[in-house]
Amino acid sequence: MKRRYLLVLAAAAIGLPLAAIAAAGSPERAAILAEYATRARAADPGFSGFSMQRGEALFRGSFSGGDARTPSCMSCHTADPRQPGRNAKTGRPIDPVAVSVDPRRYTDAAQVDKHFARDCKSVLGRDCTALERGDYITFMAGQ
Ligand code: HEC
Repeated sequence: MKRRYLLVLAAAAIGLPLAAIAAAGSPERAAILAEYATRARAADPGFSGFSMQRGEALFRGSFSGGDARTPSCMSCHTADPRQPGRNAKTGRPIDPVAVSVDPRRYTDAAQVDKHFARDCKSVLGRDCTALERGDYITFMAGQ
């Protein structure tokens, strides 16, 4: 209860709609999204929230800037994030990345940061922006 109250206060302080917190599903994930929202707003004052649709487009898109073995997030995470994936570079299995299957996904800030930096570079040839990161997590939180 107390934790939820604090979360609401934090959300109000940074101007995040409560619906965004509900969509995030966990205080840790909400905090990560709040941080990305702050950065996205700093990069673009017109920022008006994350988009599940844009997150899905990033997840399903095919890109040419990165490693030829991984043109897409789906190259390793498969077309259905509720299913186990396979690392297209190492062949190692990857647990599902959809929040409905594993609620601990996108709740460890260091882990999230490390993977965005590494995986976006592999697919896009560059890190993902704060906007792309927030969109992606918003999409995965609904999967
Ligand atoms: C080369 C294979 C590969 C590709 C391509 C890939 N990922 Fe990943 N990703 C992984 C692995 C491995 C993990 C760690 C899985 C685990 O924790 O079980 C992971 C985990 C993540 C996580 C952290 C999940 C968590 O629990 O916090 C994020 C965020 C992520 N990936 C984003 C992306 C995005 C965005 C793309 C596309 C731009 C992408 N990944 C493409 C291999 C990949």
